[in-house]
Amino acid sequence: MASSVELRRRFADALVREGAITRPEVAEAFAAVPREAFVAGGFHGRDGTWVAPDAGGFLDAVYVNDVLVTKVVDGRATSSSSQPSLMAAMIEALDLSPGTQVLEVGAGTGYNAALMSAAGARVTTVDVQPDVVERAEAALATISSTVDLRLGDGYEGWAAGAPYDRVIVTVGVAGVSPLWLDQLVPGGFVLAPVRHAGHHPVLRAARAGDGTVHAAGVCPAGFMSAAGPLSAVYAGAHPLGSGPLSPPTVSRPARFDPPLDVFRYHDMWFALGVWDSRTTYAQPPDSAGNGGCALLDETPGGGATIWPDGAVRGSGPHAVAFAETASGLIDRWVALGRPAVPAWQAPMALDGDLSQPIWVPRDWRLPGAGPAVA
Ligand SMILES: C[S@@+](CC[C@H](N)C(=O)[O-])C[C@H]1O[C@@H](n2cnc3c(N)ncnc32)[C@H](O)[C@@H]1O
Repeated sequence: MASSVELRRRFADALVREGAITRPEVAEAFAAVPREAFVAGGFHGRDGTWVAPDAGGFLDAVYVNDVLVTKVVDGRATSSSSQPSLMAAMIEALDLSPGTQVLEVGAGTGYNAALMSAAGARVTTVDVQPDVVERAEAALATISSTVDLRLGDGYEGWAAGAPYDRVIVTVGVAGVSPLWLDQLVPGGFVLAPVRHAGHHPVLRAARAGDGTVHAAGVCPAGFMSAAGPLSAVYAGAHPLGSGPLSPPTVSRPARFDPPLDVFRYHDMWFALGVWDSRTTYAQPPDSAGNGGCALLDETPGGGATIWPDGAVRGSGPHAVAFAETASGLIDRWVALGRPAVPAWQAPMALDGDLSQPIWVPRDWRLPGAGPAVA
């Protein structure tokens, strides 16, 4: 049986080979920090099965490129150790140097904070759930970490540790807290998974010298949603997602052979979300439980699903119109050269709860291609 040291070395090497890690200090952090210490009470695998710490093969189950769910309330995951390749991509996007001051919102298990610390950052991390903080504290103590762990609503940031060079958010949010921007040094930025069309692509947000706030796409991602004002629903936002659509009555054929891989599919999904505010996540009736991109009709069960091979299926009383619209949006994405998430930029505006507002992207555009909203 391989030891933890061997497993995490292999794990780091595999993430490098896959291209998820490009920086040596990030590879060394993954090779140094024992992930099992942060899921010491066990976890749920993606398929829901419980993996107990004393189960045979526990270490092998820990060193996988997948999310490990550590807390479930009423059938809903409320804390986890995120997917390592996504953690790596986000840590790399922070562009850390030795001593970079980082605030993390969403401490969870504490593993991501420990990785950033091992990569040279000075890390403050905040989580809103007391039991989650207690467990992360115990985990961080086992590796003698210097991470500063705090209990609080991440909307507030953590003023006592400011100013920060970076704010990294590891929970899905509807927008960026103004307090994070206030707590940044000039030139600093926020990296956050911001709700868009039923999922949470990672955006980079920063305030310019003139006070305006701007966002740029970084990568597609999925995260659980934050508690509190960070998840405010605001006018004009995409629908939150839906259960199964009714059986389709209209089909438009596949057009991508091979089908788009998961990243390109999410690139297309992002663009559809920019152009049509009805875009979200939904479960097609014939998907064996796997959801995907859809345009939702106000009629329950109605709309159109858009598949990785470019096929479109329309359901409900306006099936034909929805299928036409969806096909037209795919044409538009293809005609523009299939832009990826990092190609998009947007000015941000304050919205959400008036007493605790958030900055949300407005008028996404492809630089050089003019305003993108139809
Ligand atoms: C996906 S987990 C974070 C993963 C974590 N960074 C790790 O390495 O394990 C999301 C965490 O965000 C926390 N969270 C949710 N809403 C929050 C809020 N408003 N402020 C701070 N933390 C929040 C949850 O309690 C949960 O532990």
